Amino acid sequence: MLKRHQLLQNKLRQFGFITQNAALLNQLEMMERIVPTDISVLITGESGTGKNILAEYIHKNSPRKNNNFITLDVGCLSPQIIESELFGHVKGSFTSAVSDHKGAFERAQNGTIFLDEITELDLNLQKKLLRVLEDKVIRRLGGEREIRLDLRIITATNKDIRQLVKSGKFRQDLYYRLNETTVHLPPLRERPEDIGPICQFFLDIYNKQYAKKISSVSTAAMSLMQDYSWPGNIRELRNVIKSATALSKREVLWIEDLNIFSKSTADTNPQFNGIKPLDTLEKEYLLYALKIFDGNKTKTAQALDISRPRLQRILERHKIAE
Ligand SMILES: Nc1ncnc2c1ncn2[C@@H]1O[C@H](COP(=O)(O)OP(=O)(O)OP(=O)(O)O)[C@@H](O)[C@H]1O
Ligand SMILES: [Mg+2]
Repeated sequence: MLKRHQLLQNKLRQFGFITQNAALLNQLEMMERIVPTDISVLITGESGTGKNILAEYIHKNSPRKNNNFITLDVGCLSPQIIESELFGHVKGSFTSAVSDHKGAFERAQNGTIFLDEITELDLNLQKKLLRVLEDKVIRRLGGEREIRLDLRIITATNKDIRQLVKSGKFRQDLYYRLNETTVHLPPLRERPEDIGPICQFFLDIYNKQYAKKISSVSTAAMSLMQDYSWPGNIRELRNVIKSATALSKREVLWIEDLNIFSKSTADTNPQFNGIKPLDTLEKEYLLYALKIFDGNKTKTAQALDISRPRLQRILERHKIAE
């Protein structure tokens, strides 16, 4: 581990962001240089990779930290609602506007606005957002008064935004505005070295919450987790550790405590219709069988119709022996 990364890792940890991945740390180190500026940041990455934490980290380490950090999740709102949530409205501007409403832009004044799932913004609102970023003024819906804005914008998406630009679904000029810097958070399956430290981080949290004393994860359980594809990324890992901690009565987490089944696609070969190497399949199947039999090797060997020593040898070959 590089010394220069340690300071950054400690800072990130205070925000609940754990990583040892060198490529990600290098990227975050570059990001550190623009954290104190007003440069807009686009955070990309699959669901559950920590985009929200990172957006807050940027705000809280910037000179704007004592002002508001306003999040608006564009993905879960209709275009009409987004517009009035962004810009605000004055009483009577539409039927349900029963009073004046301050929008997210105004509430983020002097602070940071974080627009999550930005690619869900329709083309009409994309145009309006671009104008706001260029003119730095807004008017509430139905309002006359111009409000001058001073804020930073951070956006996030789990989609391939460049592809959406190419296919005309996302404005290129807006993309360039939002993407003065990009941070890409790789999926958990591409940084297996992070699984151990993140597990430990969650164990500490849930041990306290559930008054447990789980100190570690068994080799087989770790191996299962290393092989798993984690479609829900760190959010899924958190939930797996949370329920395992709540349910386990031991001091070590075993395979049967983990509510996952290895569906690793990392080794599939797209050239061959996604067929997996036999060796990969054998390992996954073994882990699956062990899980079904609560880690009991005698029962697992019986079910697989092989002797117990033979099972042991195969487990050792796959480095999943206890
Ligand atoms: N590097 C990390 N270390 C520890 N916990 C993390 C890390 N990244 C994410 N988490 C945890 O995973 C969960 C999901 O994180 P977050 O909400 O930031 O993800 P996201 O990328 O915004 O997901 P979505 O695309 O679904 O909105 C949170 O509980 C967060 O604390
Ligand atoms: Mg998010």
